[in-house]
Amino acid sequence: MTDLLTPRAIGQSLVRRDGVDKVRGTATYAFETDVEHPAYCHPVQATIALGRVTAMDTAAAEALDGVLAVLTPFNAERLASTEDAEYAVLQSTEVAFRGQLIGLVVAETSELAREVADGITVTYAEQPHDSELRTDHPGLYAPEQVNAGHPTDTAEGDVDAAMAAAEVTVDHTYETQMLHNNPIEPHATTALWEDGSLTLWDSTQGVHPDRAAVCEVFGLDEERVRVVCPYVGGGFGSKGNPHANVMLVTMAARALPGRPVKLALTRQQMFFLTGYRTPTIQRMQLGADRRGRLSAIAIDVVEQTSKIKEFAEQTGVPARMMYASPNRRTTHRLAPLDVPIPSWMRAPGECPGMFGPEVAMDELAEALGMDPVQLRIANEPDVDPDTGKPWSSRHLVECLREGAQRFGWDSRGPGRRREGDWLVGHGMASSVYPTMRQATSTASIRFSGGRYVAEIGAADLGTGAWTVLPQIAADALGVDVADVDVAIGDTRYPTASVAGGSSGTNTWGSAIVQAAREFRGKYGTDPQDGDEASGDVDQAAMDDAHAAYAFGAQFAEARVNADTGEIRVPRLIGVFAAGRIINPRTARSQLIGGMTMGLSMALHEDSVFDTRIGQVANHDLADYHITVNADVGEIEAHWLDEHDPYVNVMGAKGIGEIGITGTAAAVVNAVHHATGVRVRSLPVTLDKVL
Ligand code: MOS
Repeated sequence: MTDLLTPRAIGQSLVRRDGVDKVRGTATYAFETDVEHPAYCHPVQATIALGRVTAMDTAAAEALDGVLAVLTPFNAERLASTEDAEYAVLQSTEVAFRGQLIGLVVAETSELAREVADGITVTYAEQPHDSELRTDHPGLYAPEQVNAGHPTDTAEGDVDAAMAAAEVTVDHTYETQMLHNNPIEPHATTALWEDGSLTLWDSTQGVHPDRAAVCEVFGLDEERVRVVCPYVGGGFGSKGNPHANVMLVTMAARALPGRPVKLALTRQQMFFLTGYRTPTIQRMQLGADRRGRLSAIAIDVVEQTSKIKEFAEQTGVPARMMYASPNRRTTHRLAPLDVPIPSWMRAPGECPGMFGPEVAMDELAEALGMDPVQLRIANEPDVDPDTGKPWSSRHLVECLREGAQRFGWDSRGPGRRREGDWLVGHGMASSVYPTMRQATSTASIRFSGGRYVAEIGAADLGTGAWTVLPQIAADALGVDVADVDVAIGDTRYPTASVAGGSSGTNTWGSAIVQAAREFRGKYGTDPQDGDEASGDVDQAAMDDAHAAYAFGAQFAEARVNADTGEIRVPRLIGVFAAGRIINPRTARSQLIGGMTMGLSMALHEDSVFDTRIGQVANHDLADYHITVNADVGEIEAHWLDEHDPYVNVMGAKGIGEIGITGTAAAVVNAVHHATGVRVRSLPVTLDKVL
């Protein structure tokens, strides 16, 4: 694969091009879109966890001045496709989970819409529901595959025999909690249906995938639908697919032709409607000889899905490739429950899947009396154990060594060191995330008014796409980055893949490089105003011969108050090998953002599901605790100067998600080193260490 010959803009710590507008409040988000005379929506949600709506009394609401429409399952338009049960809003009176959408009020003001929606009397035929995840759930089943197209189960060799023969074994069950994405900008849309065409200003991680989903559900021609989204106030996966609110607001727009309508979910509504990280129960088995060479690795995962739409988190997948062992087994089983629909949350699969295995490795190191860093190094595989393919590049050992050195790991000592009232401990874990590139994206490059403009329907959800895509375009064109603009976040630009799976920069950047080559091929270095060329992701250059992953190592210091059990993490250091870094400034933000979210998972975030009523009890930011500045001490992200020639023409791997993988395990391992208490379920709260 050809390399970009002279990176000049790539590698520079350029400031965010959208930063000033965001800080000044002049960047327009979906709900703020300036439309004429908007109407406002407020949903009606089911207050039972399972059953059927038998009646909704809407007469009084409809008669009120200022109420424009009341949509219910009894009067809503019939959708073209109801195949996806999440999107089939108001198509039936069945209630599959508490909080499901059963109606919508559209009114002249948001206050009126909310007041009226809350006042509608709903009658139900209620049934007993089942919303409790447990390993002996009678409905447990093996899905056909798990997410991202991975096989549900894998097996090689004989784990049971290897465990029986191993000199040292670990066999424990670990649990990761239910978690909810809480981007600061809620899921919000402004929608306008006019002359048979639809415009959605929607907060989304991908305008084209968003449009495709809406067109499918409503049976619309893509030519007649435009999705616009220049800025996103965070997504983390929750805006990777549209959720039911997007279909509902589209329905409202179609009910009121010519009138723009707005729907912003409340924070509480998001806890029912916009997905969550499914809780997981992971039985881990490790067998090794006295020198720490693994002979067996097994992970058996039980996790939940909603009954109406399968979501199979690929939790067991990282255990397939992290360490060498002749005997390996991974399985996934799903418990179908009467619960809201799980979805993507930063590093779905790898994030929960690097918890059990990385704590189990720490437990094995302890049982062996071996340093946990050395244990990992001792089990470094030459090739991908799962596929047998060579690595495109794998610098885990280098990350472990550099991280240990930066952290001062060698001074770690035997643990339970006391400083005043505080017990101090050090822990570590590995990180991993696959390097993915989506197959389809197109970019075009136009020369206009002496400037180059790269157009692509990409999304910047706070990650830096506005800033790094011009860097890639500039180097591909061989011009100064100051002479390059990008235009993103609109379906009027060429088709772009979702900002998900840490694949955005890889995918869109590859298309931009291709467009630049086409442009230069057509017009040379002296273009005229109006010259334009486009390029696609080069399929032929997509490497399938190598296993491509970013790797990392994270080191944490935990301090646990000896009397109260209060847990603090004053130091967190990560070292990553993620290919060429396009922009150190935005990359560092991505990595420490991931690590902070991992710290949050370790200590704070927890969607407490009340199985009696089938809902998250702490469904607001007052009770759902997210790590804030005061909870973060020193947090550092470093990286190796890695250039991977196989992944794409930039040599860059993804960095959006790897930062959150392994963090919670590093913290748990540090807490154990501090206290001697091994916490196997997240989050680590003080009651668990006392
Ligand atoms: Mo990310 S959870 O792949 O949007």
